Amino acid sequence: MDNSPIVAHPDAEANKSQENAINTSTLGYSQSSEVGTDFDARMMQRCLELARRALGCTSPNPMVGAVIVKDGKIIGEGFHPKAGEPHAEVFALREAGENARGATIYVSLEPCNHYGRTPPCSEAVIKAGLAKVVVGMVDPNPLVAGGGIAKLRSGGIEVIVGVEEAACQKLNEGFIHRILHRRPLGILKYAMTLDGKIATTTGHSAWVTSRDSRNAVYQVRVASDAVVIGGNTVRKDNPYLTSHDQSARNPLRVVMSRTLDLPVEAHLWQTEEAPTLVLTSTGANPDFQASLRRRGVEVIEMDLLTPDKAMAYFYERGFCNVLWECGGTLAASAIKAGAVQKVLAFIAPKIIGGSVAPTPVGDLGLDTMTEALSLERVEMRFVGTDCLIEGYLPL
Ligand SMILES: NC(=O)c1ccc[n+]([C@@H]2O[C@H](COP(=O)([O-])OP(=O)(O)OC[C@H]3O[C@@H](n4cnc5c(N)ncnc54)[C@H](OP(=O)(O)O)[C@@H]3O)[C@@H](O)[C@H]2O)c1
Ligand SMILES: [Zn+2]
Repeated sequence: MDNSPIVAHPDAEANKSQENAINTSTLGYSQSSEVGTDFDARMMQRCLELARRALGCTSPNPMVGAVIVKDGKIIGEGFHPKAGEPHAEVFALREAGENARGATIYVSLEPCNHYGRTPPCSEAVIKAGLAKVVVGMVDPNPLVAGGGIAKLRSGGIEVIVGVEEAACQKLNEGFIHRILHRRPLGILKYAMTLDGKIATTTGHSAWVTSRDSRNAVYQVRVASDAVVIGGNTVRKDNPYLTSHDQSARNPLRVVMSRTLDLPVEAHLWQTEEAPTLVLTSTGANPDFQASLRRRGVEVIEMDLLTPDKAMAYFYERGFCNVLWECGGTLAASAIKAGAVQKVLAFIAPKIIGGSVAPTPVGDLGLDTMTEALSLERVEMRFVGTDCLIEGYLPL
């Protein structure tokens, strides 16, 4: 796959080669972007900043930001607040008004080219008389990729594609995964000691990592549509799974429990602050199901409760990002089922020991070290006193 950035030229020959590039490029996650000027990069970063204002709110749609610039000054800005609301470009065009004529619009995702609840943004941009469009990344849907760009070019507009492309793709990695694989992106997060334990032998786990790491996890929850745990984590930890003081937004808190042998009282059954969904096996503990429903907890029965079924259900529900915060048993099931694509491992520099203390991932049925699942695109950084390793499982 060709990941090289794409630069538009107004002449037809260059456009021809560019169109080919659009069809084959971009979703291999480019590492750097050398497209455009430093000013272009700064404006695209501003688009991303605007897009992030809707963090966790746009699924099944992407987060998108737009900035309109004339004579070096920003004259309009916008972002897509949530599905069903206007696109980022519409807000920016509204703010710029008549002044948009002859200006440049920066937008983190290729302007749409289809009739939805609103007319296509590519048409709105042409109608408003903009001279130039700078696009962060092309639409991930192979069937529509490049369509908005082609429309703009046929309307006589200069288009540059691929400014800050890697950052644009990273912001919407869940959306991209959803479009390409018809499943949300599964992110497995765990916190472990230096000797690889996620709790003590008794199951006590508050806390493995520092406050800084926990705050970082709360922020990941803000960006997630759902956070999933298994029944045992409810029994052992009685977690809240909210974003605490990091944001007013909380993900849907999901418990997967086949037995439904769960505590009568649990923080998760208090649904005033955040919603809770329990996924269980058909026919499990009907009385308990009824009592959960009375408390505002959503309960869904499935014939065979598996991580794959859960992810298929989350896809139907429009989710882009699903955070697995379970213990090792469910984590292993989720990995085996292909429900995890990304791993966030917080490692605390402390040792707890315990030969049977729980570890982050249970049995995967792998016998030789050569079979180990090697992460790709690995990044490491310190969060407070802990180390965070982030990487992706091979698809
Ligand atoms: N440090 C961390 O990051 C972290 C995070 C989470 C948990 N923990 C610790 O991990 C320990 C619990 O670990 P665990 O592995 O027992 O808990 P777990 O993986 O969260 O829960 C296992 C439970 O998940 C349910 N489940 C539903 N569908 C399943 C499926 N297809 N496959 C497997 N399980 C399914 C079952 O619940 P039912 O039995 O109710 O049917 C099963 O007993 C606790 O001590 C907790 O403190 C630590
Ligand atoms: Zn649009």
